[in-house]
Amino acid sequence: MELAKAIQSRQSINRVKPDAVPDEIVEEILESAVHAPNHKITEPWHFHVFIGKGRGEFARARAETAQLQAEEEGEDEEMAVGRVSRERKKAFRAPVVVAVVSRGGRDEVETTENYAACSAAVQNMLLTAHSLGLGAIWRTGPVAYHPHMRDFFGLEVGDRIVAYLYLGYPDMGERPRRREAVWGKTDWHRG
Ligand SMILES: Cc1cc2nc3c(=O)[nH]c(=O)nc-3n(C[C@H](O)[C@H](O)[C@H](O)COP(=O)(O)O)c2cc1C
Repeated sequence: MELAKAIQSRQSINRVKPDAVPDEIVEEILESAVHAPNHKITEPWHFHVFIGKGRGEFARARAETAQLQAEEEGEDEEMAVGRVSRERKKAFRAPVVVAVVSRGGRDEVETTENYAACSAAVQNMLLTAHSLGLGAIWRTGPVAYHPHMRDFFGLEVGDRIVAYLYLGYPDMGERPRRREAVWGKTDWHRG
C-alpha cells in the first residue's frame, strides 16, 4: 500500500474477528516498530505479545487491577463483580494484544524522548497492520496506568506503558474521518 494512502485510510478498528493472526504477521508488525526514530539510539521499547491462550495472563492482571480499583473507590461488591468481569473480557476483544512499554531514560528529558520514540513506534505498527489488511486500535485508559499493571509488567521508575495494541482481522467498515483542516493548526514563519 502506498504510504500516503495508508496514513490517510488508517482508522482505529475496535471490532475484529476472533480468527487467529499468524505469528509471521505479528512479527512483521513488531519489526516495523523498531525502525522508529529514537534519540541517542536508546531503542527504548519493549513489547509483550499476548496471543491466543496467552491473553489469559493479561486478562488476570486486568481483573486484579479492576478489583483493586473497586476497593480503592469503595465500590459495593455487586458492582465490583461486574467491573472485574468486564475488565477480564477486554483482554479477549482481539486475537492478539501487544503491550508497548517505554523504558525510562538517564534523566527526565531522555525519559520524555523515549516515550515519544515509542509513540512513533506504535504509529509504525498501526500503519503496518493496516497495510497488511489487519485492524488495530491503540488503547490505554486509567486501568493501563495503574500500579498493579506496572508491577505485572515489572516496570521500573521512569518506565511507562505506552499502548495496548489490539490486533485482528477487521469486522467493521470504514467510518467518516473527523479531523480539522491542518491550516487551522499551522502558523508559517517565512521571515
Ligand atoms: C495515547 C492514545 C490512547 C488511546 N486510548 C484509547 C482507548 O483507551 N480507547 C479507545 O477506544 N481508543 C483509544 N485511542 C484511539 C483513539 O480514540 C483514536 O485514535 C481516535 O478516536 C481517532 O480515531 P482514528 O484512530 O480512527 O483516526 C487512543 C489513542 C491514543 C493516541
